[in-house]
Amino acid sequence: MAKAPKVLVLNGPNLNMLGLRQPEIYGSTTLAEIEGNCVALGKELGLGVRCVQSNSEGGMVDAVQKAREDCSGIVINPAGYSHTSVALLDSLLAVDLPVIEVHLSNIHQRDQFRRHSYVSQAASGVLCGFGADGYRMALEAMARRLVKVQET
Ligand code: DQA
Repeated sequence: MAKAPKVLVLNGPNLNMLGLRQPEIYGSTTLAEIEGNCVALGKELGLGVRCVQSNSEGGMVDAVQKAREDCSGIVINPAGYSHTSVALLDSLLAVDLPVIEVHLSNIHQRDQFRRHSYVSQAASGVLCGFGADGYRMALEAMARRLVKVQET
């Protein structure tokens, strides 16, 4: 049997504080719950899931580069670095894996500076405004994409 393709679920700065952090914007689900749900859903979908959270730009770039070794896709919530980081965008372009970008909140409904994401340039799809459900939707979309790639 072919080995399950692995997906990196990468979360950026301050997302380790989900549950405590501005719940009126980001909801009450903790990062541990989101990551647990992603691993469980991955099993159902036939995907291996590796979850990483980093509060630093370099930590995120390192995780993206490492994904090139053993992952087939990346689901990323770049958090604040979405709006500032050319380095993170460059790392995603360099590894050349399918990328789906997730934001818990609807970034287009908030401050002007949140409306642009550098990371979106490397993403095949962007989900925002669906809260923690966005990760589920992203993994389902990734599974469809990776299974399709494997069949061709
Ligand atoms: C976020 C939106 C970003 O603007 C913000 O900096 C975050 C979280 C979201 O998930 O809605 O930290 O990516």
